[in-house]
Amino acid sequence: MNEQWEAVDDYFDESIVAQDSALTNALKASEDAGLPRVNVTASQGKLLHLLATMGNARNILEIGTLGGYSTIWLARALPADGRLITLEANENHATVARANIAAAGLADRVDVRLGKASDTLPVLAEENRGPFDLVFIDADKQSNPDYFAWAVKLTRPGSVIVVDNVVRGGEVANSDSADPAVVGTRKMVADIARNNAVSATAIQTVGGKGYDGFLLAVVTGNEF
Ligand code: SAH
Ligand code: DHB
Ligand code: MG
Repeated sequence: MNEQWEAVDDYFDESIVAQDSALTNALKASEDAGLPRVNVTASQGKLLHLLATMGNARNILEIGTLGGYSTIWLARALPADGRLITLEANENHATVARANIAAAGLADRVDVRLGKASDTLPVLAEENRGPFDLVFIDADKQSNPDYFAWAVKLTRPGSVIVVDNVVRGGEVANSDSADPAVVGTRKMVADIARNNAVSATAIQTVGGKGYDGFLLAVVTGNEF
């Protein structure tokens, strides 16, 4: 990984990102429990937090919890009566996340739901948990088309949808890719291109996690 990208991430992390001990403890506990180190970086977590703050988010949905690191960044933007539901298929990840979220003082606002998102998303609809103000999609990338469609279904005009890891070292531009993650992301992008109810962009990023990027969409509801 590029040392300069990491040095710049470190510089901003130490100056303006202001990651506190609840967040660093969550990373340490996740690492100790053997979870893969694929959480968002501190600066990306702060961006999620700021997006939720900008939109006055009171109701947030996350797909892909891991150890709850991005969850904590997002949930901290919520008012005291706000709520975040996060979906996780791996029981060990969910257990670690619940402990990290409780240690961060956010157990009252965060609901970690164990199960495949394809099973738990329809339950959210049945329970009328929407509309969510912000949805963060960060689970199995081959399912991105389904997750994005669910995100649109469970939001309202003005809601924000963020999708992590859409660039993958540039592979997203390879139309011949056989990588299911790339195929899934490209299918999602094609769906978004045809969907007049959302307006979207994608931003390439470098940093502590290498070269990747995220997609940002706003639900417009203009189905013309
Ligand atoms: N958002 C986290 C990182 C998530 S990593 C952060 O930035 O801190 C992706 C997570 O998605 C993993 O924990 C993985 O177990 C979970 N996952 C994979 N497939 C899934 C599925 N079908 N449904 C729900 N979660 C899934
Ligand atoms: C992977 C998953 C992520 O959410 C991420 O940010 C980076 C990598 C992965 O599964 O490889
Ligand atoms: Mg990710």
